[in-house]
Amino acid sequence: MPKVLRFLWAVHLLVIGLIAASRSGSTSIESESKENNRPNILFILVDDLGWGDVGFQRQKFTGDRSNIPNEIQTPNLDRLALQEGMILERHYVHSTCTGTRVSLQSGRLPVHVQTSLKYPEDPASGMPRNMVGMAEHLQEAGYHTHYVGKWDVGMATSKHTPRGRGYDSSLHYFEHKNDFWNQSCMQSTCCDPDEHGFDLVDLWDTDRPAFNLNGTNYEEFIFMDRMKEIIQNHSSHHGSDDNEPLFLFYAPHIAHCPLQVPKDYLDKFDFMEDDDAECQAQTGYIYPPDEDALPPKFSCRKQYHAMVNLLDDLVGSLVHEFKAQGLWDNTLLVFTSDNGGPTIMEESGSTNFDLRGGKYSDWEGGVRAVAFVSGGYLKPHRQGVRIAEMLHITDWYATLVALAGVTDLQERVRQTEDATQNFPPLDALNIWPYLAGEEDHSSRTEIPLSYHSLLQENYKLIWADEVGQAGWTGPIYPNASSTRSDMFWSVNCSEGCLFDVAKDRGEHVNLASQEPLRVQAMKHRLQELREGFFENNDTGIDLCPDDIDIPCACWMAVNYYGGFLGPYQQDTNDESP
Ligand SMILES: *[C@@H]1O[C@H](CO)[C@@H](O)[C@H](O)[C@H]1NC(C)=O
Ligand SMILES: *[C@@H]1O[C@H](CO)[C@@H](O)[C@H](O)[C@H]1NC(C)=O
Ligand SMILES: *[C@@H]1O[C@H](CO)[C@@H](O)[C@H](O)[C@H]1NC(C)=O
Ligand SMILES: *[C@@H]1O[C@H](CO)[C@@H](O)[C@H](O)[C@H]1NC(C)=O
Ligand SMILES: *[C@@H]1O[C@H](CO)[C@@H](O)[C@H](O)[C@H]1NC(C)=O
Ligand SMILES: *[C@@H]1O[C@H](CO)[C@@H](O)[C@H](O)[C@H]1NC(C)=O
Repeated sequence: MPKVLRFLWAVHLLVIGLIAASRSGSTSIESESKENNRPNILFILVDDLGWGDVGFQRQKFTGDRSNIPNEIQTPNLDRLALQEGMILERHYVHSTCTGTRVSLQSGRLPVHVQTSLKYPEDPASGMPRNMVGMAEHLQEAGYHTHYVGKWDVGMATSKHTPRGRGYDSSLHYFEHKNDFWNQSCMQSTCCDPDEHGFDLVDLWDTDRPAFNLNGTNYEEFIFMDRMKEIIQNHSSHHGSDDNEPLFLFYAPHIAHCPLQVPKDYLDKFDFMEDDDAECQAQTGYIYPPDEDALPPKFSCRKQYHAMVNLLDDLVGSLVHEFKAQGLWDNTLLVFTSDNGGPTIMEESGSTNFDLRGGKYSDWEGGVRAVAFVSGGYLKPHRQGVRIAEMLHITDWYATLVALAGVTDLQERVRQTEDATQNFPPLDALNIWPYLAGEEDHSSRTEIPLSYHSLLQENYKLIWADEVGQAGWTGPIYPNASSTRSDMFWSVNCSEGCLFDVAKDRGEHVNLASQEPLRVQAMKHRLQELREGFFENNDTGIDLCPDDIDIPCACWMAVNYYGGFLGPYQQDTNDESP
């Protein structure tokens, strides 16, 4: 135990030292960017929100609001996206949470950092230690940086936590999901009853377990309280001082499973019909904590849309707080889902109408995220504009850093990242000139989505023997007439399938036989790109005693953090402890 303590203390000092060093080196950037009008940034990265689950998407398809099902109630998002913002029609992400989140924080495409879903007790889960996080640049440039919500970018060392990645403060959980009501661990071998079975909590406050917060409220309300405190505190200390803007990152748990929502929100959706039996079979982990509050017949779509409506209220409150504190006029809001809605009924109640497939697939329903930008920082002539061309979530890394006035990003990253690591170079591109209307086209023209698929401008190649989840979710899904077989069938793309996803976003027409040369060229290019694919395999040194027979993360949670998940390895690359 003293050994462990000593290491943690050393780690703590190192982090403090790094933060101090980066702060003191910041003067040149700050003075360089004095003339720039640097925005406050509110980044909202939603979990598992389906393409068709918000009003503005439905209105966009039909031209009016009359075809929006009553269950979709997102007035704040609709206003921010349609009237005050720009809808990003082709904003690509990874098909699952971790890849998207790591890609954004690291400035790499998922295929250049992490595509797999690992549990956080695996040290290679998330971003390798020596990659530089997006917020580190913003912090150096004078931003006050705060993280609230789901992290899922790694946990092994303190370098892996938001604090180690450039956030001044954080209130977050580490895993793919936890329990909305008591923040208990839900997706780790440490708490899985069939594995190690510990009753653990997953909620962390900057550099320690969030001891006094777990179990005090519905998770999003705990997050909201913290965000209000951050916004008010920022405003009273810095006002709207351009030299010290605010970067607030909110990664809500909504609309990821478990489908848990306060009863007053659920009651608002009483008018909805219950959905199918397959969905009801999963009431085991879809529940409000009060047994009496269980709807007589369970409906996951009802829970889901109540959650999305709650998210809409939360975004409304956040914007209200920015306005009340005089920050909104100079704030840029970025809103995006981390992947498409899951079509597996056990997991969700989302619909990706009118796209094909969903989460876990490379169909547009899995990787084309519902997304928009908004906020007072947008020039009036950009409000209501549709952004038609391709963007990738990793591009925000370079874009936000450019807006912060940093001009030598590539150089900084090269210098900071140890050259012996052989990390792929930054992929992030500054897309602001395109979004601001200064350039006609997106600088993002190519995205290798995975080992099997490649996007090049309007075209997508999918090249695999069996491409699953090939169905289309209906306008109301899941519904009484939808079955597993509607979604879960496969297409044989062993010769390569080709879609024009700009004209045919639903991927109905395979163009491969009409355009054999394009298929050939894209296959060739994908093969070439595969040579450079990279998957984080960074592993540090456990802080645990040698003679334990459980993963170090579980041991540390039980023996060191009082029942909370937290870092469990040294954060230096030093081989000798
Ligand atoms: C959280 O709630 C769940 C479901 O009621 C329960 O099984 C679990 O033990 C609770 N965990 C903690 C840490 O309180
Ligand atoms: C917070 O978690 C700790 C550790 O599991 C537990 O002892 C405590 O009761 C929890 N607090 C609440 C209010 O649930
Ligand atoms: C409020 O802001 C000040 C100045 O940035 C900071 O030192 C302090 O820790 C903040 N307090 C909270 C509760 O965030
Ligand atoms: C119900 O789901 C099926 C299968 O996804 C779909 O074809 C149908 O259009 C949906 N019905 C409604 C009313 O949306
Ligand atoms: C897919 O089609 C190819 C021939 O075009 C065939 O060799 C292969 O067995 C098929 N795969 C499956 C899973 O049906
Ligand atoms: C990690 O991956 C890199 C690049 O693929 C490889 O060179 C290296 O040997 C791997 N390291 C380990 C420990 O597997």
